[in-house]
Amino acid sequence: MGGADIRLKTPQEIATMREAGRILAGIFEEIRRSLKIGMTTADVDAIAEKMIHDNGVGAAFKGYRGYPACACVSVNDEVVHGIPGPRLLKDGDIVSIDLGIIYRNYYSDMAMTLGVGDISSQARKLLDVTRQALKLGIAEAKPGNRLGDVSSAVQRYAEGKGFSIVRDFVGHGIGTRLHEDPEIPNYGSPRTGILLKEGMVLAIEPMVNAGTARTKMLKDGWTAVTADRHLSAHFEHTVAITNKGPVILTA
Ligand code: MF3
Ligand code: CO
Repeated sequence: MGGADIRLKTPQEIATMREAGRILAGIFEEIRRSLKIGMTTADVDAIAEKMIHDNGVGAAFKGYRGYPACACVSVNDEVVHGIPGPRLLKDGDIVSIDLGIIYRNYYSDMAMTLGVGDISSQARKLLDVTRQALKLGIAEAKPGNRLGDVSSAVQRYAEGKGFSIVRDFVGHGIGTRLHEDPEIPNYGSPRTGILLKEGMVLAIEPMVNAGTARTKMLKDGWTAVTADRHLSAHFEHTVAITNKGPVILTA
């Protein structure tokens, strides 16, 4: 891992991945519109599954290392990989939805945290900061920069706002596999790490916590929660590095 085997994509491959990303962003738009108090996390997954079917694409997560659903749906203190089930979404919850699809053999990966009903000002701030941290990280994803420029931009912003960066999960390269090299931590130092090149496609995905950065695994073997049970947010885009700079494919 690290930077050992990074597969550069041709403009044609990136065009295919852009189409995949457009479809995935459309599915998220539908989920965002449908999300309501009283839905279960399984209902969220069912919308994702129906949209995947209607778009004629594949589900990237289902069956991946035995994962049982299309989407990961993580509520409040759940950081990532929440398994959809009978849990009801209630007013004031924040819900992190992570979804990957396969389109013409190419993967696309995206996540966002949404508020249910009226959320607290602290929750609102956490969402805004995590979304903005991703945006600032993406802005550094250009030829000539190093991976540490992306990572440190995310970290500096989120920590500067008083939140913590999850270390136990990282972003990744993406292409004909869901997880390709390099790993993309959301913490690091500027001007360190591998050199970023045209043709790299990266899934950048900061997970930001209101309290401690530490996580623990629930007994289901998938769901990661914050160790102090404070809130967590997660935003992810699949991004291509081009000679014109970063291009968000999942837009
Ligand atoms: N976005 C997550 C990741 O890149 C989703 C993987 S969930 C799994 O690791 F269920 F597929 F494992
Ligand atoms: Co990912």
